[in-house]
Order: sequence, then structure tokens, then C-alpha cells
Amino acid sequence: MIKKILAVSISLALSATVSIVHAKDDVNAGKQQAAACAGCHGADGNSAVSTFPKLAGQHASYLVKELQALKAGIRDAPMMAPLAMGLSDDAMSDLAAFYASQTISKNPMPKLPIDDDDDDDEDEDEAAVAAKEKAQQEKLENLLAKGSDLYRNGDLEDEVSACIACHGPVGEGNQPAAYPILKGQHADYLIKTLTDFKNGNRIKNTEDMMNMIAKKMSADEIQAVSYYLSVMDKQTKSTEK
Ligand code: HEC
Ligand code: HEC
Repeated sequence: MIKKILAVSISLALSATVSIVHAKDDVNAGKQQAAACAGCHGADGNSAVSTFPKLAGQHASYLVKELQALKAGIRDAPMMAPLAMGLSDDAMSDLAAFYASQTISKNPMPKLPIDDDDDDDEDEDEAAVAAKEKAQQEKLENLLAKGSDLYRNGDLEDEVSACIACHGPVGEGNQPAAYPILKGQHADYLIKTLTDFKNGNRIKNTEDMMNMIAKKMSADEIQAVSYYLSVMDKQTKSTEK
């Protein structure tokens, strides 16, 4: 009996080591293949262009799900879909393992454009410039607060579900359910992709949860929640006090 238990636990221990070694192999194989993706997504999955999604630190389950959807033509993305078509299942899981093992970069605070109503900029004194900057800062803070509120509580009036229910208290998503991590993503990409969901341009499945949710969001709400998510780590710290 004891011998049997021992044998079982040894084989369990062995298979655990095998899967760890296997995971490392996946990351290394994925890293090699990711050379073909680096031009748009960055060598470590942190894309330089803010409308291209960061892949670094994203859940492998979600990355594979999206690559499959792109390959099958369920997700519309003219630039990305042709690249997914050339990927085998193994290549997808290796690439996903590599990107999931990387660390997502931090974003700078978003900057609202200063609206210039008057043309005589040169005559403006320092006090007027400072007042304008202060007004912009306040506007940004209000926008981030609105984004945080929408993320946590949703919008009862417009029936927008609270994002926190699926994307987690700190925007960490959910690996088993393949819900994506949102914190630290580029604001411009978030705005683009939420607008695509809203207009039915991202996914062909009209029953898709995000299609239904984004359809009810206003452009202002999309901007607010996207700005908030892009700097969520800084925001959470300041609101925790
Ligand atoms: C020519 C630029 C380009 C290249 C090269 C490229 N991608 Fe993309 N990728 C994009 C763009 C743009 C999107 C966003 C599409 C959209 O707006 O829906 C994207 C989206 C993705 C997504 C979905 C991310 C998310 O958060 O939903 C994954 C996964 C992905 N790419 C993986 C890869 C992999 C793996 C490679 C290499 C085999 C690769 N990409 C090469 C431009 C590129
Ligand atoms: C009921 C669960 C659920 C809720 C609530 C939810 N989401 Fe999602 N979200 C998902 C799923 C599932 C996906 C993946 C969709 C896909 O595969 O096309 C997703 C994808 C996304 C993406 C795409 C990420 C990327 O990398 O491309 C964004 C952005 C997003 N959600 C934002 C939000 C926001 C903002 C809210 C709140 C207003 C919200 N979600 C509420 C389930 C949810």
C-alpha cells in the first residue's frame, strides 16, 4: 500500500517537473516565433504604437482564444488576421506562453489637448497659461474618477454592467475564463477596440458579452474608462489613501 502511494507520488512529482520543463520550452519556442510579431507588438510584447495592443503579461488563455478567433475570421482585424492564419495550434500556445511571461510596461498619464479658443497666444501671460493648465488637470481628474466609477459600479441608467465583475478588482482579468487583463493597456487601443465592439466591428458574434456591453456605452464613457485603465495602478494607489 505504502509502496503504491510512494510510486504514485513519485510519478506525480516527475510529471510536475516535466510540465515545468515543457512550459519553459514553450516560452523559448514562443520567443523565437515572436520575432515575426516584434515590429508591431514590440520585442517583449510592449508595442510602441499606442493603437496596437500590448501583449506582455496578458493571460495565455485569452491570447490563444483571440488568435483562434482571428484565424477563423470571427474577430475582424484586417492588419492582424492574415498573420494569425499562418499559425498552428502549437505556435499559438508557444507565442501565448512567451507573451504571458513578459511584464507589461507602465503608461504615462494621459494628456488632454488644451483647447485654444483665442488666437493671440503670444500675448497670454503666465497666469493665464497656468490657469488653463489647472483647468485641464481638473478635467483629467474628473474623467479618471468617472472611469473608475464606471469600472466599479457600471452605469445603472444606461444599463452598462460593472467591468469589475469580469475583469477583476485591479483589472487583472481571469485566466481560467480567458477574460483579458486590462490594466496598463494603451488608452488609444482600449478606445479603438471598445468603439469597435460598440459598432459591431470587432466580433461577428452579436451575442458576445462585450458587444452587448459596449453598445450601451457613450463615447465619453469609453474615453473615461480607457484613460482610467491605462493608468489604473497609479489611480488605485491614490484612491486607497
Ligand atoms: C502589422 C502589424 C502586426 C503584426 C506584425 C502582428 N500584429 Fe498582432 N495585432 C496588430 C493589431 C493592429 C492588432 C489589433 C487588432 C484590432 O484592432 O482588433 C493586433 C492584435 C493582436 C492580438 C489580440 C490582442 C488583444 O488584446 O486582443 C494578438 C493576440 C496578436 N495581435 C498577436 C500577434 C502575434 C502572435 C503576432 C506574430 C505572429 C502578431 N500579432 C503580429 C498588429 C500586428
Ligand atoms: C460579463 C463579463 C464581462 C463584463 C461585465 C465586461 N467584460 Fe470586457 N471582456 C469580457 C470578455 C469575455 C472579453 C473577451 C471578448 C472577446 O474575446 O472578444 C472582454 C474583452 C474586453 C476588452 C478587450 C481587451 C483587449 O485586449 O482587446 C476590453 C477593452 C474590455 N473587455 C473592457 C470592458 C469594460 C470597460 C467593461 C465595463 C464597462 C467590461 N469590459 C465589462 C467580459 C466582460
